[in-house]
Amino acid sequence: MQTQIVNADARESIKQAADVIRGGGLVAFPTETVYGLGADATNKAAVAKIFVAKNRPAFDPLIVHVANTEILPSVVSAIPGAAQSLIDAFWPGPLTLVLRKAAEIPGIVTAGLHTVAVRMPQNDSALALIKEAGVPIAAPSANSFGYPSPTRVEHVIADLGGKIDFILDGGVTRVGVESTVLDLTCSPPSILRPGGVSRESLARMLGKVSVSSAEEGRILKSPGQMKQHYAPRAKVLLFGGKHREKVIQTMRERIAELKKGSRIGIMVPEEELTHFTDADGIVLGLGSFATMEQVARELFATMRTLDSRGDNYIFALAPPKEGIGLAVFDRLFKASGSQLIEVD
Ligand code: TXA
Ligand code: MG
Repeated sequence: MQTQIVNADARESIKQAADVIRGGGLVAFPTETVYGLGADATNKAAVAKIFVAKNRPAFDPLIVHVANTEILPSVVSAIPGAAQSLIDAFWPGPLTLVLRKAAEIPGIVTAGLHTVAVRMPQNDSALALIKEAGVPIAAPSANSFGYPSPTRVEHVIADLGGKIDFILDGGVTRVGVESTVLDLTCSPPSILRPGGVSRESLARMLGKVSVSSAEEGRILKSPGQMKQHYAPRAKVLLFGGKHREKVIQTMRERIAELKKGSRIGIMVPEEELTHFTDADGIVLGLGSFATMEQVARELFATMRTLDSRGDNYIFALAPPKEGIGLAVFDRLFKASGSQLIEVD
């Protein structure tokens, strides 16, 4: 299949992309978090193509993207008060709400669940596309299943070029990690996947919020909670602990042991770069932990860069689990196969 790649800013491109969606095809488009791979959410055959292109298992439900709240009654069966307050506060933005689904949404979108995940992205091209298509758009991240999400058009082309109809090139995505998935069908509401909207800001609005994650051994409610996810081919070794110097020291020791027979990539914040040299492996700064938004923005691209070098190991330092740091930690933790190396 020939994949057409066009500039997301041009009005004409949006029209073409909307025609593809209405015709039952697949369009990759930028959002504020990561690129999405979209299809008409009301068209079963079109949605089925998403699972094939991504090599995604059918049990993993998709997020439905909307451009206005008027369309919500055809996506969800009811909007509880808490949902309305969250919509008013955070949409458009990186917050996905899990609510009871409307009959119009086919089961293939929700993997047979009675709930549906819905969000309004904060990206002009994405909103223009959804409006122009005139239908809600079902879209997972536009990567091959299990691989780090795409934050640049090159990532989409690498994973899905030749497998989808159309790509809207919108440059680098602003947030860099996916949306927060919040389940509002339980009490208290539960974060199924930490993301662009922080736990703290949700707690301020809702009072109590729980964080459900594979780490805590809870039941798998969201496949985003699978133990190994967002994983590059290299083995990710994630180090954490209270005393930064000790953690760094342990990382250096492990690097010294492993570097003889293997290629090593090192992903640390700028403030720790001086502890590592080119002789250890390739060292890439992720921005500073003091500006975690920047770390989030660069995370997946950095993982992909190291992986494309054919590194055997990627060493990473765990960030504090505050604000968007929780989402960064979550992605690194899953990339490591849920194994944090804790240094006392
Ligand atoms: O930022 C994002 O959320 C991006 C952009 C493209 O919008 N999308 C994205 O989609 O990350 P995806 O498919 O890669 O991740 C969606 C997550 C998965 O972990 C899925 O299991 C969960 O949302 N999910 C979807 N529907 C659900 C439902 N009804 N109940 C529980 N979890 C659900
Ligand atoms: Mg994904």
